Amino acid sequence: MATMNKKSPVSRSGRFTGGPAAEAAQFTESISFDWRLWRHDILGSLAHAAMLRKIGVLTRAEQVAITRGLNKIGLEIRAGNFKWKPELEDVHMNIEAELTRRVPAGAKLHTGRSRNDQIALDLRLWLRDEITALLGDIAGLQRALVSLGEKNADVLIPGYTHLQRAQPVYLAHHLLAYVEMLERDCERLWDCQSRVNICPLGSGAIAGSTLPLDRVLVAKLLAFVDVEGKVQLTQNSMDAVSDRDFAVEFCAAGALLAMHLSRLAEDVILWAGAEFSFIRIADAYTTGSSLMPQKKNPDIAELARGKTGRVFGNLMALLTLLKGLPMTYNRDLQEDKERVFDTADTVRATTRLMAAMLKHTKINRAACAAAASDPALLATDLADYLVRKGMAFRPAHHVVGAVVALAEKTGSPSRSGAKAGKPLNQLTLMELQSVDKTFGRDALGVFNLQRAMAKRNLIGAPGTKEVAQQLARWREQLS
Ligand code: ARG
Repeated sequence: MATMNKKSPVSRSGRFTGGPAAEAAQFTESISFDWRLWRHDILGSLAHAAMLRKIGVLTRAEQVAITRGLNKIGLEIRAGNFKWKPELEDVHMNIEAELTRRVPAGAKLHTGRSRNDQIALDLRLWLRDEITALLGDIAGLQRALVSLGEKNADVLIPGYTHLQRAQPVYLAHHLLAYVEMLERDCERLWDCQSRVNICPLGSGAIAGSTLPLDRVLVAKLLAFVDVEGKVQLTQNSMDAVSDRDFAVEFCAAGALLAMHLSRLAEDVILWAGAEFSFIRIADAYTTGSSLMPQKKNPDIAELARGKTGRVFGNLMALLTLLKGLPMTYNRDLQEDKERVFDTADTVRATTRLMAAMLKHTKINRAACAAAASDPALLATDLADYLVRKGMAFRPAHHVVGAVVALAEKTGSPSRSGAKAGKPLNQLTLMELQSVDKTFGRDALGVFNLQRAMAKRNLIGAPGTKEVAQQLARWREQLS
């Protein structure tokens, strides 16, 4: 049988007669992806060493040597000069083995610790940083949306339901809808962070340790504290080494975020098309076609939409990975890393790129104005007019429907035939009254778009003042 190495890797104790088969080693290694945890693995070891010194397992000189050694290894990794060895399986073994080669006291570093609590710690530390960074990325996208709304505060567009023109809204109102969605993503990530930010170190392989480890000290050194400064420690060693709920929660929050990004992407794609032409994305954030010279494609938005698939997949893969796992640590858990990394990488890059693209997007005001001036968008306002005159809403709805039908029948069809009839606001008072006598001289005033927007003054509605207030609120909150 081919063996990888004459010398057994450090994880194999004296009970083994030799190293693993080459193909077994290749199948079980994780260094090809978990090397990314190096910074957090070193941070964890520095804290563990400080604690071992405090409880007398390490001398001061040994702790100093270990700390120096780990810092030096960290610098080498950062500079790209560290040689990762696949035969050492994972990031923990690689760093510890190299440390021990350089500093004999490194052999004491794993006292009271197992890779089971070490990996749980590393993943929590890594995710804690990623969540903080992602929250910053999301705020950046929110700011880009608010800025675009502010720069075009007077721009109206049709709002759509069923992708059919429904009622006029400020473009800013539409953009702020995404700011609200993204805020909920931030809330979910904050909530998830409170369960990520709990220190599992001291749980050992499954059952803690017989040595007098100081878990509180380690947690403090690694900033595992809540907003009130209370130390956060896992309370059951078996749960601590087998729990990946925090990773599932992150992937679930990431899946919702990705879904929101895909919806924003879809609006951008529609709006950039000739049929809408509401926006123009700068050349730097679009791509060309290899065949059709006239094409300028919104590929960033399309990829944002497309990448949602892998983010949903990561969540499903993690849930499936955990389902039915017996207590406690099982090697299956090694499969969690790539899913968590991929979700973090994908949603962070997508969030940042969408923000950059929006910062380089111009609004085609003429096309928006033309679309928003469609008087049919105010058909509901005409029904509200009848309600104000005392008619019940149901008959008013019916009457305005009849007015729309009359407008469609009246006048000459346009050349394309697409929009036959008269626009609603060009019906005469006589024509309106032929449908219902309730219509008065002031009925056509309903079609004054500015006035119509001023009237939408409920909380959360796209009224002129209300949208300005919301823009100001978000500007303040995001600054
Ligand atoms: N590479 C492992 C993982 O990602 C580290 C923990 C290994 N523990 C063990 N008992 N083999 O889960």
